[in-house]
Amino acid sequence: MADQSGGGIDTVMHEERLFPPPPEFAAQARIKSMEEYESLWRKAAADLPKFWGDMARDELHWFEPFDETLRWNEPVAEWFVGGKTNACYNCVDKHVVEGHGDRTAIIWEGEPGDERTLTYAELLSEVRKCANALKSLGIRAGDVVSLYMPMTPELAIAMLACARVGAIHSVIFAGFSAEAIAERNNDAGAKLVITADGGWRRGKVLPLKETVDKALAKSSTVEHCIVLKRAGDVVAMQEDRDHWWHDVVDGASDQCPAEPLDSETPLFILYTSGSTGKPKGIKHTTAGYSLYAKKTFQWVFDHRDDDVYWCTADCGWITGHSYVVYGPLAAGAKVLMYEGAPNHPAEDRFWDIVERHKVTVFYTAPTAIRAFIKWGDEWVEKHDLSSLRLLGTVGEGINPEAWMWYHKVIGNERCPIVDTWWQTETGGIMMSPLPGAIATKPGSCTKPLPGIVPAIVDSDGHEVPTDQGGWLTVTHPWPGMLRGIWGDMDRYQEVYWSQVPGKYLAGDNARCDVDGYYWIMGRIDDVLNVSGHRLSTIEIESALVSHPAVAEAAAVGRPHDLKGEAVAVFVTLKQAEPGDELRTELRQHVRNEIGALAQPDDIRFTGSLPKTRSGKIMRRLLKDIAAGREAVGDTTTLEDYSVLARLRSDDE
Ligand code: PRX
Repeated sequence: MADQSGGGIDTVMHEERLFPPPPEFAAQARIKSMEEYESLWRKAAADLPKFWGDMARDELHWFEPFDETLRWNEPVAEWFVGGKTNACYNCVDKHVVEGHGDRTAIIWEGEPGDERTLTYAELLSEVRKCANALKSLGIRAGDVVSLYMPMTPELAIAMLACARVGAIHSVIFAGFSAEAIAERNNDAGAKLVITADGGWRRGKVLPLKETVDKALAKSSTVEHCIVLKRAGDVVAMQEDRDHWWHDVVDGASDQCPAEPLDSETPLFILYTSGSTGKPKGIKHTTAGYSLYAKKTFQWVFDHRDDDVYWCTADCGWITGHSYVVYGPLAAGAKVLMYEGAPNHPAEDRFWDIVERHKVTVFYTAPTAIRAFIKWGDEWVEKHDLSSLRLLGTVGEGINPEAWMWYHKVIGNERCPIVDTWWQTETGGIMMSPLPGAIATKPGSCTKPLPGIVPAIVDSDGHEVPTDQGGWLTVTHPWPGMLRGIWGDMDRYQEVYWSQVPGKYLAGDNARCDVDGYYWIMGRIDDVLNVSGHRLSTIEIESALVSHPAVAEAAAVGRPHDLKGEAVAVFVTLKQAEPGDELRTELRQHVRNEIGALAQPDDIRFTGSLPKTRSGKIMRRLLKDIAAGREAVGDTTTLEDYSVLARLRSDDE
């Protein structure tokens, strides 16, 4: 539940650095200047349905044209009503039909070092075979298929095959427990699960099939299971239920037309954990999502035909859906996929991949960037990263000093950085620099994309003044928006559309500065209230990360008799020695950087911070630890329970 006091968050951040697009980058970019961006944004905002309608006609393939761009019955949106299209056709067939079948679609590298490349024509053939295999197991339009797979080309193939026949995929990150899989299967009513015997992670095989077997014992709706042979481990196969991928897919016909589907046909469900309670099945649909993923990919990553594009996200997250599969493939890009860990066999695996495959565009998460910083520059310096031309980040706020490291050490002060703000719910990037047009400020996601109209409001729905923090909302529907929570439209209405009438409530705080730049200040629920001043987590954390000894920091409030809340911080160090001396120094550092108000009362050093499996710091758990309470709520997304246990015992 959002903080009812709403709005009025004090900013204590002073970030003045500005990085204009390099002129040679801007000269060849899709959108070349601030004027061009502003005029496109204004044109879109003046007539949003026309803007999106024209774009949909130009960018997507239609089996039948739509006759109404948007039917908006808040909170239910229907985009491109009456049209028939297919997300898989747009990603694959379209390129082959247009004569680009021999272009590379996927360059894949497994963790042990095996490699595979698929052209668009080869991808089409694989997807058709997989689609036929789905049909042979009784999968029809509207059925739900759960995918619990390693990052192999077959995961993308399975997603696209579902889209091809109108089945709804639900990708479950291959690190979740059997319990979490069963819960998702049951909520969605999944009929089929696709998995693998195992997947490689840090030199070991994750026993995926074994985990699925446990889940299937509790998943009454699942009739069949397809198993990809990836790791070669011996697995139990249950007769009639379990089928090897190489039996049902490899032997299938490679002829299978893409189903013409209504624009609003559900494309996928993706579960995201709410901060409390049961995971939410976020629902996205065919046409609007396809368009939004494609166009935002082209704009933000300034896509060129000769790019080798690498987004390090797993397809188990929305970033993998929109910017490994649907966006880049719809744009005909060359997509690099990597199966394993960033530190296997050593901490330079990513830079080794960049060098060998001559990656030009690299998109990752702040949690990874902070790990690279901690591991040390020497791992990066061993490699030639001169192929890179653009860097991106997503998933959390990036602390300005981490941004500067990314800019200097990875980008060699040459590559623009796109800090992209968006959510599972938004389907695609909402705010980001357009790299040829918008000068960047470290820590700011800069401006809304064309067609997106944000507003920062207080709890009464009134816009807050410049530079004041408040709730981030979106004032108009957009094609990539979620269409609901699977099986729970009431919760959809309540979470996103009830607290600020007429606007989409993102659940984040943000401020907009005098230049119209947006700064995300963290989740609404994470705000600290110190002596009546409402402070943002990220600003305090960024002040700590700007100290040379600090790799990562998390700030939370804990109850305090006088101040209401006191600032408690959890800090991981680069190489420095923890101790009282450093504690005093850090306290002073925060005081100098942002003022006495934000000075932490408690500083705890820890080897690592508890994170969700997608890498976000779990402040909610830290808050309980800081307050001396037991951790409560949903922890199924916690990456490493031992981190929590260690923090608890540090506490004792
Ligand atoms: O709090 C924001 C944070 O991640 C949330 C969305 O998480 P999820 O649905 O898992 O999607 C992550 C990938 C899109 C947001 O509400 N977040 C995401 N990107 C940023 C961010 N916070 C600050 N800056 C960002 N660039």
